[in-house]
Amino acid sequence: MVNSTLKSNQSNEEEPPKYRSIEDIPGVGPATAEKLRKMGYSTIESLATASLKELTQFLGEKTAYAIVTEARKHIISVPFMRADEYMRIRKTVEKLTTGSKKLDELLGGGVETQAITEVYGEFGSGKSQICHQLCVTVQLPKDKGGLDGGALYIDTENSFRPERIVQIAKRYNLDPNKVLSRIVYAEALTADHQMYLLDNADAQLKEHNVRLIIIDSLVAHFRSEFVGREMLAERQQKLEKHLHRLMRLARAFNAAAFVTNQVMAKPDSFFADIEPTGGHILAHTSHTRVFLRKSPTPGVKIAKLVVSPTLPEGAEVLFRITENGIEDVPEKKV
Ligand code: GTP
Ligand code: MG
Repeated sequence: MVNSTLKSNQSNEEEPPKYRSIEDIPGVGPATAEKLRKMGYSTIESLATASLKELTQFLGEKTAYAIVTEARKHIISVPFMRADEYMRIRKTVEKLTTGSKKLDELLGGGVETQAITEVYGEFGSGKSQICHQLCVTVQLPKDKGGLDGGALYIDTENSFRPERIVQIAKRYNLDPNKVLSRIVYAEALTADHQMYLLDNADAQLKEHNVRLIIIDSLVAHFRSEFVGREMLAERQQKLEKHLHRLMRLARAFNAAAFVTNQVMAKPDSFFADIEPTGGHILAHTSHTRVFLRKSPTPGVKIAKLVVSPTLPEGAEVLFRITENGIEDVPEKKV
């Protein structure tokens, strides 16, 4: 985990204070703790990466600053670091297997923790299927490509199917009931509800050792509720806040954030080009973007790496969806 590595790197530094709950932070009495919990900050980890601006609105600048600073001390004792130290922290980033070697290779070894990975594509291109697959593989031990953790699934389109999880669990000889019990599921009914769920997720993340946060689909509610130019600014503001919250949780819990997105026709394009929905906010916040499309062969899909902070963009691979979930395409079928 990030925290332990940071601490061990700085063994000659003064040991940060040991807090077990937010009430242990000096200055956080029962009333403040209650307020923080209502805002969705119920763990030291989430407070350490909280937005000061947001806390200030409810607690006043001085208290907010004192609390966040104290929580940060607990997590990260030195805010500045040399690039070689940063490199060591980067090494705490872990990769989660998709079940397809080719798709893992495209992603530089799998879906990264402490980052957001977005897949976008038309209906039936396999977005929700990959989400289901990851909910199972995240539970595998690390030497099998998993993260030995649970998953949180925020579902906006009623796409989640426990039966599908059972099928995929069997592929890995896992006990299906146990696998299901390590997936925390919530259906988001509106955009605000979706934000509320994520804002209040941190206690669940901690309790279930969640290492994978899924939002399927990220933008659908926002698109359907905020229609027209006059609502665009508000929509983008909310979406940005939502994404920042997601990013902070992914960092605090060393979790992989995996989101899906639809496509729309490019409004200003002469050709029949398509692009992911969500606009610039998403383009700037999403770290890795993968475009999925169907191939002429039934069940076989094409994944293209569109944006990546570290990998060459534009590469494409094939994978297929079977009863077992996401798999490589056998050589003879390519
Ligand atoms: P939208 O949410 O509608 O935008 O699509 P999506 O990209 O999420 O599509 P999804 O991941 O639901 O993929 C649907 C495709 O997965 C289907 O067209 C099937 O090819 C495949 N699929 C889904 N379930 C099964 C299954 O149980 N067995 C097999 N063999 N294929 C499946
Ligand atoms: Mg879907």
